[in-house]
Order: sequence, then structure tokens, then C-alpha cells
Amino acid sequence: MKKPKISVIGVGYVGLCTAVGFASKGYTVIASDNVAEKATKINKGIPIFHEPGLQNLLEEAVENGRLKCLINQTEKAVFDTDLTFVAVGTPSNSDGSINLQFTELAAHDVGKALNKKDAYHVVVIKSTVVPGTTQDIVKPILEKESKKKCGSGFGLCMNPEFLRQGSAFEDTMHADRLVIGEYDKKSGDALESLYEEFYGKNMPPTVHTSLSTAELIKYASNSLLATKISFINMIANLCEKLPGADVKVVANAVGLDKRIGPLFLNAGLGYGGSCFPKDVKALIACSKNLGYRLSLLEEVESVNEVQPLRAVEFCKELLGNNLTGKHVAILGLAFKANTDDMREARVIPIINQLIKEGANVTAYDPVATPTAKTIFQNKIQYANSAIACLKNADCCILVTEWEEFKKLTPADFTKNMKQPILIDGRRIYNPETFSKKLKFTAIGLGK
Ligand SMILES: NC(=O)c1ccc[n+]([C@@H]2O[C@H](COP(=O)([O-])OP(=O)(O)OC[C@H]3O[C@@H](n4cnc5c(N)ncnc54)[C@H](O)[C@@H]3O)[C@@H](O)[C@H]2O)c1
Repeated sequence: MKKPKISVIGVGYVGLCTAVGFASKGYTVIASDNVAEKATKINKGIPIFHEPGLQNLLEEAVENGRLKCLINQTEKAVFDTDLTFVAVGTPSNSDGSINLQFTELAAHDVGKALNKKDAYHVVVIKSTVVPGTTQDIVKPILEKESKKKCGSGFGLCMNPEFLRQGSAFEDTMHADRLVIGEYDKKSGDALESLYEEFYGKNMPPTVHTSLSTAELIKYASNSLLATKISFINMIANLCEKLPGADVKVVANAVGLDKRIGPLFLNAGLGYGGSCFPKDVKALIACSKNLGYRLSLLEEVESVNEVQPLRAVEFCKELLGNNLTGKHVAILGLAFKANTDDMREARVIPIINQLIKEGANVTAYDPVATPTAKTIFQNKIQYANSAIACLKNADCCILVTEWEEFKKLTPADFTKNMKQPILIDGRRIYNPETFSKKLKFTAIGLGK
């Protein structure tokens, strides 16, 4: 059977991984993005962000003509293909509610293309959108622009994405589960058969459901993961008040309970990134609009707001309360390891507070320094290596759990820093080994 042609609107983390994933399995993919620079880079086989495993397959897909990216030509991409994934960004408004301007713009263009097409076409919303969006906002726009009825004229699905940045491509190729929110059975079956062909023998467990249930599944997943993080951070803060207590041991033992599981119980400086903070806020706002207060999630958020500042408090405790003129080394800028993304990175409030308190900050990250320069400009110094970052520092805060930082030894700190003081914000170092050689403290470690 002939493979359907795929279009992907928006080539950020989700769109590009989807596009490269399908192209790598032999599909013809036409993407479109409204940022010309991104499209141009992609057409040269250059990834627009750091993501392990993506570079070679992107190069290959472009070289063999399976993937091309148009500049702001959604209509053309849709017209020339059989099924469209919409993967545009869904940022927050200032009140935390979801901003659907990109989704709506994309829907208008998709609808216009559907108007010109005779063949049945399935539109799949992959962006994270609050419950009700696909049915109440996207569908009416598509129907108005296409002058066709959803169902008979075209298909519509909501297929949330669960990939994790840092392993985004791997997650696209080996998903844990597929959620297919379907307007009608025909739309859902068309998307399922595409995925059956894509995954072959490794087809993930698949849930077929309504559009709004699919939308809510994505928010419920991210909110639960954020809740686990804030929960363990709260326990970590309590551990710090209990001599001899250690949150890492608590989390390990708690995680051995099969009902709980070990994942997402790593205490640290809070969650960041482009998804958890905005999705938790959007769900709170959406629910408030419906007359129900998600008080538990409000607390999850407020724990996460103050958590990064624990690092600055530690710094002050260890440096005699006054940070004026003190040199603070920051290891890690990305919101997590294996990405250069700094959206909502916890390091941002940490560095801002350090600067406010008069500290001189030097930072190092294996890949996120160019991103950091757009945020902090010349307000901080940028080092070219972890060791260079530590040179003459009065205190070091470990913020991102990169593998390369895990390899640092106590001697790397004692030999290079002015005062060997280390704050482990992600619990990657062994407290016993490090406490023997330097002034060491960590999130969730009782004094
Ligand atoms: N990043 C993740 O880890 C992740 C995981 C799961 C779900 N999501 C969700 O997927 C969606 C996309 O996330 P992302 O991280 O890939 O976003 P992103 O901001 O990296 O990329 C979005 C892309 O859409 C493009 N775009 C915006 N409007 C457009 C339009 N009208 N036409 C064409 N292109 C347009 C932008 O230029 C950008 O390249 C969001 O809803 C997000 O919440 C993200």
C-alpha cells in the first residue's frame, strides 16, 4: 500500500521529531514553519536545537528528499499531503491561561487548504491544548475555512505528545502509549493505521477516546509528574531540618513501593522547561474558568516557585550572609541535561537573585551557553569548561545534572576554587565522599 504523505505544521521539538521520525521510516514529509531561519536550517540538515540522535537522521531525510520545510506555507504543505500534524507552540498568557494564537492561525491556514482539496484529509492536533480546544475552537475554524463538515468532509484527531526533551527523538520512535482523541471513528482509525504502519511490531498500547479526554490526559500526566517533583522537594526541605535525614534515601525507599514507583522522585531545585510550568498553569486557569479550583496544583506551583531560591539561601548560609563581591560558579544552565533549552530553567531565578545580592556569577553549560547569553547578556561571565568555571570561585552551585558534572571529583573543586564550597542542587554527588574534602551541602540533606 502507498504510504500517505504527511505534513507537519511547526517544527519545534515536537514537530521536528515527528517529521524526522516519519521521514526516517520512508514517508514523504512536508513541514512548514513561520520562522524562515528555522526552515532554512532544517533544509540544510542542521537541527535547530540540541537533541541527541536527531542530527544524522535529519541530514539523511533532507538528503534523500523525504523531508523539506517550507517557510510559512501551511496551505501548500497541507494541500500536497494526506494527513497533517499541527505542532505549533501553545505558550502561556500573563495570567497563566493558554495562548492559542498560533493554533488558531495554523487552523485557519489548514482549513483554507482543505477547501481546495477533494480527497479526505485528517487533521491531527499534536500541540498541548486545554480541554475543549479541538472541539470548540479548532473544528469551527476548520469548518468555516474549508466550507466542509468535520467527519464527512475531513477527519479530526487530538493526539497529545509525551516526548521528553533530551530523549525526544528516542521517545518519538518508541512511545510508551498512544492517545488518539477522535472526532469520529473514521478519523481515529485513519490515525491508528498510520501509527500501526509506523511502529510495526512495536505498536504501543493505544487509547481511543474523545477529543477533550485526550487533551486532559496530557495535562493530567504533566500535572502528576510536577506534583511528584514538588512533593519530594517539600520532603527535601523537611529533611534539611532533621539532623541525619537524607531525602535521597527517603525517595529510594518510598519508590520501592510498587504503588508509587521510583521515577520523578528526585529532589532538586524544581522543575522547569517549556511544558510542566506552563501546562500546570494552563490547567489551573482552565479549571478556574469552569468554576473548579485546582488547589493541589496551586500548591505544586508555589513549592516550585521558591525551590530554586534554596540554592541562594545555602550560598548565604555558607558565605556569611553577604554575597556582595563573592564569586559564585554555576554548573549547568539548561533546564535539564541533554538539551540547550532554557525555557523556565530554574537557573534563571537563581542567577537573578545572586546578581541582586551583589554576587559575581560565572556559569558553564556543555551546550546551553549561547541560549544563556541571550538571557543574561554581559550580566554574568561564561566559562568554556567546568574547571574554568570553578577557578577562584567562593562557592559553586550545581544546577543541571549533566553526565560531565557527575565525573567531577572533590579534587577538581579543592584545587581550583578560592574556597571549596559546593551546593549540590540535583543530588548527583556522594555526600560522604564530598563532605570529607570540602564544605558540602545538598538539597534534602539534614545537617
Ligand atoms: N517540548 C516538549 O518537550 C513538548 C512535549 C510534549 C508536548 N509539547 C507541546 O507541543 C507543542 C509544541 O512544543 P515545542 O516544544 O515543539 O514548541 P516550539 O516552540 O519549540 O515549536 C513550535 C514551532 O511552531 C512554529 N509555529 C508557530 N506558529 C506557527 C504557524 N502558524 N505556522 C507554522 N509554524 C508555526 C514556531 O515557529 C516553532 O518553530 C506545544 O503545545 C507543547 O506544549 C512539547
